[in-house]
Amino acid sequence: MTRDEILGWLREEDEAKLEELWARADAVRKEIVGDEVHLRGLIEISNYCVRQCGYCGLRADNKLTRYRMQREEIIACAQEAASYGYGTVVMQSGEEYGITTDWIAGIIREIKSLTPLAITLSLGERPDSDLECWKEAGADRYLLRFETSDPELYKLIHPDVACILSDRVRILKKLKALKYETGSGVMIGIPGQTYDVLANDIMLFTELDLDMIGVGPYISHPSTPLGKGEWTRMVDPSEQVPATELMAYKVVALTRIMCPEANIPSTSALATLNKAKGREFGLQRGANVVMPNMTPRKYRSLYEIYPSKACIDETAEECRSCMRGRIFSIGRTVGAGQGGRIRRGK
Ligand code: 5AD
Ligand code: FES
Repeated sequence: MTRDEILGWLREEDEAKLEELWARADAVRKEIVGDEVHLRGLIEISNYCVRQCGYCGLRADNKLTRYRMQREEIIACAQEAASYGYGTVVMQSGEEYGITTDWIAGIIREIKSLTPLAITLSLGERPDSDLECWKEAGADRYLLRFETSDPELYKLIHPDVACILSDRVRILKKLKALKYETGSGVMIGIPGQTYDVLANDIMLFTELDLDMIGVGPYISHPSTPLGKGEWTRMVDPSEQVPATELMAYKVVALTRIMCPEANIPSTSALATLNKAKGREFGLQRGANVVMPNMTPRKYRSLYEIYPSKACIDETAEECRSCMRGRIFSIGRTVGAGQGGRIRRGK
């Protein structure tokens, strides 16, 4: 598919035409990654953050109760994930250096010695030496969304801190060189995001040959500069991408068609916009992964990246049975094993 065709689909509103897009994405998904839906247990290990992202509720300036999980709590969550048959745990946090290099390395080693899990990290823009150390300790995968391919919009929504230039694309290339399975993605409908920029985002997914691609709608958080409308970039209203559920499905579907082998989650942000059917629609329009939340309940509501997040009041066990039910309800199967990227050899 060409960039112009992508642009055409992003602007398409005819429901019958869109059915064609869903069907095409679903057929590619079925042929290339099959009917299995892989479960990744998400552990939100800390909500401290040094960054000032204009969209995110965890930004350093936001007043909220901060927590960092204990090592033993994290390991217990990982063991629980393994007992549920999940193939992967994802340890995610704000970017925070109270999480030390060695502390994470020790936890990685312990989880690896106790379980057959793949370990995915999502800990922000850490120095290369951390990424090297954690790979050596046994980490398998790393998630770092580039959020937008437009340098000017990126600078606006994701300011540099401590005068260190934020260059996520460079880090993604480094992760690939270190042999991490590498994941990235964007938010859809960020104020100031145009159709052109979003088409470029999808082109960049293919260019980077990503193993995992997470996309979800932007959800306005009232205590952030973007949510309050304090940080803005003027764009022609006809060029602004809407932060809708429909647009998110379009991007999931186009991502599957452009990056057929990628593992693509049906994200929590999508489930937040449509609590009844968002996950299922994502899975039927290109996605093949879900990330059930394993974070202990007492911490969940504190990891408020955006408001009304799905799964805030549920337990790990509840999310497990909820996800399984959703997967079976659409005639799909639960993936076995680690569910890494399978290259089909071109
Ligand atoms: N709405 C939607 N997604 C968000 N994220 C952060 N803040 C928001 C928001 N307000 C996404 C970012 C980040 C991921 C962990 O969550 O893309 O990389
Ligand atoms: Fe958590 Fe459905 S996955 S409640």
